[in-house]
Amino acid sequence: MSSYEFNFGQFKTAVGFYELENLIPDSGSLFIADENTSYLIPKKYLDRCVILPPGEEFKSWESIDKILTKAVDLELARDANFVGVGGGVICDMTAFAASLFMRGCSVTLIPTTLLSMADAALGGKTGVDFKGYKNLVGSFYPAKELRIAVDSLKTLSKREFLSGLAEVIKSAMIGDVELLEYIENSRDDILDLKKESLNYIINSCIKVKGRIVEEDLYEKSVRANLNLGHTFGHALESVTGFSTFSHGEGVVWGITKAMDTSLELGIVSKDYHSRILSLLKSYNYRLEADVKATDIIDAMKLDKKKKGGVVKFILQTAPGETLIREVPEDVLYSVLK
Ligand SMILES: NC(=O)c1ccc[n+]([C@@H]2O[C@H](COP(=O)([O-])OP(=O)(O)OC[C@H]3O[C@@H](n4cnc5c(N)ncnc54)[C@H](O)[C@@H]3O)[C@@H](O)[C@H]2O)c1
Repeated sequence: MSSYEFNFGQFKTAVGFYELENLIPDSGSLFIADENTSYLIPKKYLDRCVILPPGEEFKSWESIDKILTKAVDLELARDANFVGVGGGVICDMTAFAASLFMRGCSVTLIPTTLLSMADAALGGKTGVDFKGYKNLVGSFYPAKELRIAVDSLKTLSKREFLSGLAEVIKSAMIGDVELLEYIENSRDDILDLKKESLNYIINSCIKVKGRIVEEDLYEKSVRANLNLGHTFGHALESVTGFSTFSHGEGVVWGITKAMDTSLELGIVSKDYHSRILSLLKSYNYRLEADVKATDIIDAMKLDKKKKGGVVKFILQTAPGETLIREVPEDVLYSVLK
């Protein structure tokens, strides 16, 4: 499989694909995992481990405190390497803690969900949820190394897998027309977790994201395209209390609403609009949500991505053609009715 090195400003990230048996590096001085991913860490390292409870509710300052406390107990120094083994929650927190420890120590990320392999672990956004707001506190701190073993996805639940596939579809829409066709034509291989299929889709997403983040680490311009579906999706997650829809399920709904918005504004063809909806239906995603337009619009206004008090939307006009713009409220009501 391919391996890459990306340059993100002053940071470099090497990405490599591994077999399970050599996935965990010897270079770790502190390992961070959750209760569902700690099985991947060899027993000989368990005294250097922080194992957190799983889930978004533990993406918190208290977890960062536990990681940093363990680093102090182990008397680690500035040359420490924090190794995060888990989904987006563990990867975001490991890199955040590493960015703080001794003003920044090295970090290796070992993503174990499709979402974190294809998206979250690459690109340096770190953080925790704080005072009820998602990812409110964090830093830009790319890992020096990403190690991926697609076989670790075998223990992931189907729901989490499909949640991650939503980000894969998003990346394909934004930056890889061939990947989009592949996802349309290879449904069974992907859902059966065929190794070549997983390697191909993850590899493709890494190239899309790596290219974009190399251009715009701090999300001043094109990186915002990666938020396709996220403004609507986050609003849905928030209105439904962050428990009914997973992140990826919110993104899927958000993509459909973004495509409906493009159609309503007359900036996308009916063909591309129905192509995306058919693709999402073919993977049995839930495309409807019983929510009020007003609640979604209010939640979007609160979205932290709002700039100068105006909510901006990432919309598509064609495969690979993405733009960011404001949308009149009457259009939003029409799309959300
Ligand atoms: N930094 C970024 O650029 C970025 C991008 C997108 C999302 N995110 C963040 O990622 C998080 C979501 O990540 P996620 O969807 O991976 O969720 P997650 O980390 O909560 O993992 C989902 C569930 O799967 C379990 N799990 C993980 N790997 C497993 C495996 N191999 N086998 C069995 N169970 C496993 C976890 O324990 C958890 O219960 C959010 O907090 C989001 O903010 C960050």
